[in-house]
Amino acid sequence: CGIVGFVSDRKVKVEDLISGLKKLEYRGYDSAGLAYNVNHSIKYLKMPGRISEIEKLLLNEGLMKESFYSGIAHTRWATHGVVSEQNSHPHLDCKEELAVVHNGIIENFQELKTELEVKGHIFKSETDSEVIAHLIEDKYNGDLFDSVLKALEELEGAYAIAVVHKDKPDQIVAARKGSPLVIASNNSISMLASDVTPLLKYSKEMNFLNDGEVAILTPKGYSLFNLDGVPLERKPILITWDESLAEKSGYPHFMLKEIFEQPIALESVLVGRLKDGKPQIKEVRSLEGFVKNQMKKVYVVACGTSYHAGLAAKYFMNRYSDIDFDIEVASEFRYMNPAIDGNTLVLAISQSGETIDTLEGVRLAKKKGAYVLAISNVVGSTIPRESDAVLYLNTGPEIGVAATKTYTAQIALLYTLASQLIRWKGYENEELDEIMRTIEKIPELFKMILNETNGHMMELVKKYKNFKDMMYIGRVFGFPAALEGALKLKEISYINAIAYQAGELKHGPIALLDDNFPVFAIVPSGKLREKMISNIMEVKARGARVIALTPKDDLQTKKICDDYIDVPTVLEPLIPLVVAPITQLFAYYIAVQKGLDPDKPRNLAKSVTVE
Ligand code: G6P
Repeated sequence: CGIVGFVSDRKVKVEDLISGLKKLEYRGYDSAGLAYNVNHSIKYLKMPGRISEIEKLLLNEGLMKESFYSGIAHTRWATHGVVSEQNSHPHLDCKEELAVVHNGIIENFQELKTELEVKGHIFKSETDSEVIAHLIEDKYNGDLFDSVLKALEELEGAYAIAVVHKDKPDQIVAARKGSPLVIASNNSISMLASDVTPLLKYSKEMNFLNDGEVAILTPKGYSLFNLDGVPLERKPILITWDESLAEKSGYPHFMLKEIFEQPIALESVLVGRLKDGKPQIKEVRSLEGFVKNQMKKVYVVACGTSYHAGLAAKYFMNRYSDIDFDIEVASEFRYMNPAIDGNTLVLAISQSGETIDTLEGVRLAKKKGAYVLAISNVVGSTIPRESDAVLYLNTGPEIGVAATKTYTAQIALLYTLASQLIRWKGYENEELDEIMRTIEKIPELFKMILNETNGHMMELVKKYKNFKDMMYIGRVFGFPAALEGALKLKEISYINAIAYQAGELKHGPIALLDDNFPVFAIVPSGKLREKMISNIMEVKARGARVIALTPKDDLQTKKICDDYIDVPTVLEPLIPLVVAPITQLFAYYIAVQKGLDPDKPRNLAKSVTVE
């Protein structure tokens, strides 16, 4: 879910809440709502559907230009309760004097609800969030801040909340535990949001709330407190992102824009970190000593696309060293007893820096004494703040729900980091030097791949968009590439896309194949090429169509496949990189041809801050 809020002396309007909310739409978009303080009462509107629906209604009712004192808004990704008007936020108390927006999950809401119902509170929704409004109402003593503090004492679970009250037009009270919240203030407007993007227009100086912190926002500025109400001092962080980076710049979708931003994103992630084929990871001072003197093992914790980038890094490390390397998806890792200790370097990979499962993985790793290095795109986000150190991707905001530019930037950074670790540990390898020199030139290679592929993707997509199933196969470095290709396709086109190591086909998955089940085969140029060709033959023998991603000069493979897409001839470790823009474009155009919105796939959210 995404939340946004403003407080000022009627300097902001309803349309500002809506435009702020639109920047957060990637966080969830099944319903939206807002509440604001005018004429000593709380006006509110909420409904199922996208933000554009509520915007239409506000326009029709002539409310977009209405100015207010304090206002909050919410875009929802349903957890408790179906998508409906009642379950949309904001939630109000019985007397409709106060309104709350909430991101997170209140775990003890059922008990609290029962207690409040006994006291006479009438609930309108099935959500866990509504209990917060009633609890604050129950504690209300004329001091909103104090009442919120008292309510927080009883809440268990995760939350980022913002509260407005009809009698406190110059205040928003906000709090955080587990779900992100950023605040800023400038020119007698104070504001809050789930991430920095809605606030960039007003200020570049942001303060990121920590867990267990509460803020009072007034037109004059904001104050921070702990849960006991003790004031805290913390300087804001300067965010260098430009507001225009969070716009579509003429592209029909953020996803396409972000796919085409990859050359520049790759340049940004590598600058200062890789020069003349030599890694120069100097920004984390404590890392070199730790790696040289202590590190015995590397362990990656991540989810979704970030996990796939981690998997590519595993194969990379393994090709050039025998450094122990383990990887686990964060939602499993956190419930296991992973073999890590003070000699382990844990890489917590998270584009958003907010994924709760990865965050819990970081906490577990720290408890076990590991050195935790975060890899993230979002400055000031929670995972980097809780880790020992961080390497930022520096790609600018990624808005499309399906990760694209951050994925390839993660791989480029992880390979550079891996080559740095390998060097520090004293391994030498000529091929590694060659790979790193190619990676330095990867932005140019991406420009070429994007230009060459984009043109004929449409024709290919027309042939495949109506299939219900599709299988992606690859070997070693082709496997993370296959996993990510399949994830992109299923995320945005709802085709049942699955990925396997090509050698595993014969152990089960091949039973699925027939002429209704096309196979996307990632064919390398190296020693695994022959093996892949055998797999393609097995697939063809079952009547399945094959689209091959082949090196340009591999005429033999092209001949045996139904369709092919040229990939530059590169050494195998580069396959996850060079294949990515192709599988991204394929998924994108399939979704568009099917009339789906690739930026906002159903049931998904970009940043999952619930468990
Ligand atoms: C969500 C998104 C995925 C993403 C995953 C991990 O599930 O829909 O696209 O890969 O979270 O996100 P992170 O921000 O931790 O990289």
